[in-house]
Amino acid sequence: MINRSTIDKIMQAASIEEVVGDFVQLKRAGANFRGLSPFTAEKTPSFYVVPSKGIFKDFSSGKGGNAVAFLMEHEKISYPEALRWLAKRYNIEIEEDRNYDKEAEDAAKSLRESLFVVNEYAAKYFHEYLQSDAGSTIGLAYFKERGFSTKTMETFSLGFAPENRTEFTETALKNGYKKEFLTQLGLTVERDNGTFYDRFAGRVMFPIHNLSGRVIAFGGRVLKKDEKTAKYLNSPESELYHKSSVLYGLFQAKSSIVKSDVCYLVEGYTDVISLHQAGFTQAVASAGTSLTEEQARLIRRFTKNVTVLYDGDAAGIRASMRGIDILLQQGLDVRVLLLPDGEDPDSLAKKDPNRLETCLKEEVKDFISFKTDVLLVDAGQDPLKKAEVLKELARTIALIDDPMRRSVLHLETAKQMGADERIFLSEINKNRLEKAVPNREDRDLIPTPTDAFPTPTTPIVGVGDQKFPHELYLLRLLVHFPDALIDEYTLAQRAVMELEGYEFEDTQAASLFTHIASEVLAERPVTQELLVQIPDPSISSLVVDLLTQEWQISDNWAKSFEIEIKSPKENIAKDFESVMDRIKLKTILGWIKEIDEEIKAAEQNESELQEKLIAKKMFLEQIQEITRKYGTSIYR
Ligand code: CTP
Ligand code: MN
Repeated sequence: MINRSTIDKIMQAASIEEVVGDFVQLKRAGANFRGLSPFTAEKTPSFYVVPSKGIFKDFSSGKGGNAVAFLMEHEKISYPEALRWLAKRYNIEIEEDRNYDKEAEDAAKSLRESLFVVNEYAAKYFHEYLQSDAGSTIGLAYFKERGFSTKTMETFSLGFAPENRTEFTETALKNGYKKEFLTQLGLTVERDNGTFYDRFAGRVMFPIHNLSGRVIAFGGRVLKKDEKTAKYLNSPESELYHKSSVLYGLFQAKSSIVKSDVCYLVEGYTDVISLHQAGFTQAVASAGTSLTEEQARLIRRFTKNVTVLYDGDAAGIRASMRGIDILLQQGLDVRVLLLPDGEDPDSLAKKDPNRLETCLKEEVKDFISFKTDVLLVDAGQDPLKKAEVLKELARTIALIDDPMRRSVLHLETAKQMGADERIFLSEINKNRLEKAVPNREDRDLIPTPTDAFPTPTTPIVGVGDQKFPHELYLLRLLVHFPDALIDEYTLAQRAVMELEGYEFEDTQAASLFTHIASEVLAERPVTQELLVQIPDPSISSLVVDLLTQEWQISDNWAKSFEIEIKSPKENIAKDFESVMDRIKLKTILGWIKEIDEEIKAAEQNESELQEKLIAKKMFLEQIQEITRKYGTSIYR
């Protein structure tokens, strides 16, 4: 680990305009610099470097941060790698810290490393076997018949496992790879009597890569159509492979996903490969499992936009619609493309890529409106069935945490269904309230909504996970005005005092707040300059994102090229109070949930039960006190 004082030296030496200038042609624009975004293909420069703050901001991709963040993003390197790059650029000698449990870490690392080495050997072996005389007549011929080019086979490291049931394992053992690792990875299966066989014998092989391109598992497909065994066989879970958190093709797709800001989600290996070959390099698949939360979050790291490509079979569509809810819940904007009859992504990409491109441009539908259509067809004119459809749609819309998007969908869907807007809204809110306050009697105590909770003037977009945006609203106030005074305390001091013990839900927000808290507790002044220059790039990027959320290009920017910060200074105290109230409400609701558990557990113990009930009543009163202030609901 690079030690703290080295990091400080590096951060002090690094000049943002020099570092960025190594990669981007910059022109002076007033006090700042301007250039073409290196992250998109823009024609008019909207990429800014602000030397006075030590940051860059790219308005076309939304990225921003300090010099370290720029290097990580631009060079696709890790945090320590970026620091080393800067150290080299500025001739700073790196000193390392060695006070963590190095042995344990080394041991764990070396096991994983050995497993990686074995998997990579296997992938290379299968890939070479595919091209050998023995392998090419069957394996290579199969891929060629499916229309995969040599380049595609390279990109996806496709391979073929010998049909002889022990050939692979025996060769691997002969080359010094340990049986223990081969079996752990599921490449080799050991029988009780000590003999073994190759799990994938006779199958064409699809290696599965992690985000840095290392092989973590394999999928193998049988070649004979009438075979009784499963069409695909996948590696078992291992130290390297947890199938619920992997998306097939993401390694090959990620940079294209970022660039085009969309991800195409398909079902299987061959769909991904054919799409990539036809130029749709944003395709990934969940490969053999229904979609998981982790996979949804994984996509969210690269883009907010997912287009699901469906083959047009009605039963399949209905079955997978629930799976898509997971995407919505993770804050993704989901769209759907229903492929022409009889086509799947694989077949259409091969047969008519131009048509696919047109479909992706013109026939993509918002998921909610797609779902509405499908369910409406089912319901026909039956009013009871239609009411059921409305309920189901309300349940789905309630999963979306972004209030702006929810309200747009609420209006559009009500219109599409020919339903009353207010009734539909109350159904959506009922679902949200049920999620926030699981206990029915407690819900009855909470005042009914009269108007929206006072939300900050501008919503926050594209930052953090957005599950609970109030944390970000608070941090936005804090990064703009950390040293503004309310009574005799600064905003930073107040937030730290009042949020003692609060656990942030958004992990990025949590790290930033922890940083602010440690400064406040050390009685150091917290300033904007300090926050922007926090060395950890994931934190400083958040700071910059929050700062620039309210940057407007000023009216005469064409003349001056200056960026101006417009912020409602007069509202600081009011905004602060309302956002803190909202966070407090969430905390109290959490306490109530906990105390409900305790009440259940204390059923036998009368005095303890009494005590808990009193505490709960107190919490409920606190909730009412806050909500009364706003005459509003607690669930945004
Ligand atoms: N799958 C699996 N195990 C099976 C069947 C399917 O893991 N027994 C997964 C594979 O990831 C597969 C995906 O589900 O790619 C979709 O299945 P399917 O449509 O049957 O396969 P395709 O990828 O279309 O393969 P092919 O075109 O070669 O039949
Ligand atoms: Mn197929």
